[in-house]
Amino acid sequence: MTLSLRTNAFIDGAWTPAASGMTFRTYNPGTGEVLADVAACDREDVNLAVAAARRAFDGPWSAIAPTARGTLLRQIASLIRANAADLALLDTRNAGRPIRDTRNDLVRAADIFDFYGGLTDKLRGATIPVPPGYSAITIHEPYGVVGAIIPWNLPLVMACLKAAPALAAGNTVVLKPAEQTPLSALVLAELCQEAGLPDGVLNVVPGFGETAGAALAENTGVDKIAFTGSTEVGRLIMQAASGNIKGLTLELGGKAPNIVFADADLEMAARGALFTVFHHQGQVCAAGTRLIVERSIHDAFLGLLVEKIGRIKIGLPEDPSVHVGALISREQLERVESYVGKGLAEGGRLVTGGGALRDKVPAGGHYFRPTVFADIAPEMTVAREEIFGPVLSVLAFDGEDDAIRLANSTLYGLTAAVWTRDAGRAARLPRRIRAGTVWTNMINMMNVAVPAGGHGQSGFGNEYGIEGAEGYTRLKTVWTNFAEHPVGWAL
Ligand code: NAI
Ligand code: MG
Repeated sequence: MTLSLRTNAFIDGAWTPAASGMTFRTYNPGTGEVLADVAACDREDVNLAVAAARRAFDGPWSAIAPTARGTLLRQIASLIRANAADLALLDTRNAGRPIRDTRNDLVRAADIFDFYGGLTDKLRGATIPVPPGYSAITIHEPYGVVGAIIPWNLPLVMACLKAAPALAAGNTVVLKPAEQTPLSALVLAELCQEAGLPDGVLNVVPGFGETAGAALAENTGVDKIAFTGSTEVGRLIMQAASGNIKGLTLELGGKAPNIVFADADLEMAARGALFTVFHHQGQVCAAGTRLIVERSIHDAFLGLLVEKIGRIKIGLPEDPSVHVGALISREQLERVESYVGKGLAEGGRLVTGGGALRDKVPAGGHYFRPTVFADIAPEMTVAREEIFGPVLSVLAFDGEDDAIRLANSTLYGLTAAVWTRDAGRAARLPRRIRAGTVWTNMINMMNVAVPAGGHGQSGFGNEYGIEGAEGYTRLKTVWTNFAEHPVGWAL
């Protein structure tokens, strides 16, 4: 590791301890080792960061030509690429996410800055046909100051996915990383400064949700909040944002259905079914945690899954051969354990896994065995609630309507997948499933150019794609009377 660790907040271009002098400890969930003590920001620090972001918005950032803004963002992408190996290792050590995944994250993080860097001068409005002598045009204007609150599961990708489109659209940003994983967002701030981003354009305030996060969500100097995290906190953010009627994007939890028909390529479907719920230990909002299998192949398909699970390698996240790393914290591990308890108590049949793994893994880490429950009904807790751990719930279906009924028996609506070789069915089903993204004969593919967002209690607003940047703008309409048409009454 050659990157130096940053542990202070980044406010107005300067590395700043918390006003209170307080710090909090951040760990390596794979080993339990302490990585650093980081500034614990609170209301006072957030106020300073928001004020700096406002000055930067009113000053240098709005004065830069859109094309030049794009050049700056693409420079940040290059610096992310130049430091990719170190940043991947940093996120792996801080988040317990396997290095095979964080290496891909780094490609995505740089692509996000490149993609949005290319959009800065392409967020066009419209000229609308109106009666002669008038014109009506629309302009995409930035909100102003954006507050971004992100979770711990994909720390750097989440930071980039908020910062890049917000900056591309002309906003300034105050970013609060998750308290579990503050480190890579601070390095991102350093790279932004190195790229030449003016002071105050991106500020990073590490700290806890109830303090720094809540202060940011309430701050009336913030024009828009972009949040990714639990539905429970999403509700609190909506309330906090109501004070000054902030713009809002919420990317919340999920309980994605993954539907496998008997006519599918079962080998591919099995690979997909395992990857979606066990990669990153199931701590992914888009994970296909409800496997909905056609009854005629149910037992054979389960057999195929169990056989393959035996070949999954669990261990130290920085080992490149590891598939499944460590859960983020002891608290998360206990949460997953309690869900397994509920699954058993409510009549689920434990097929494999079911508990923490302690053999041949570092003693201080939080490892959990890939777990499969069969005989699950849609009312059971493990079928309804987001577990955020390596726990798969299997439900059997008979016929297309039954599959749809089970798939839609959730308050969430983030993603879904369907596996079938029937072309008609592959075209029909995505339209009947309530979810923001539906994959057919594939799963969990994301691309920076393709918008994604939640339906139902998975939230609203889109990220990625052109839509992702438009979400950081407000539409303004400008009418002009250029023929001196008379106005109002001839009084
Ligand atoms: P969380 O929703 O509490 O945390 C996400 C972010 O929100 C963090 O930055 C946190 O500091 C902040 N936050 C927490 N309380 C806040 C408040 N009152 N005001 C403003 N910001 C606040 O998620 P947590 O506790 O880490 O995980 C609990 C569960 O949430 C997980 O088990 C999982 O089910 C779900 N979750 C979903 C995620 C997703 O990607 N959709 C990501 C993380 C968690
Ligand atoms: Mg929480």
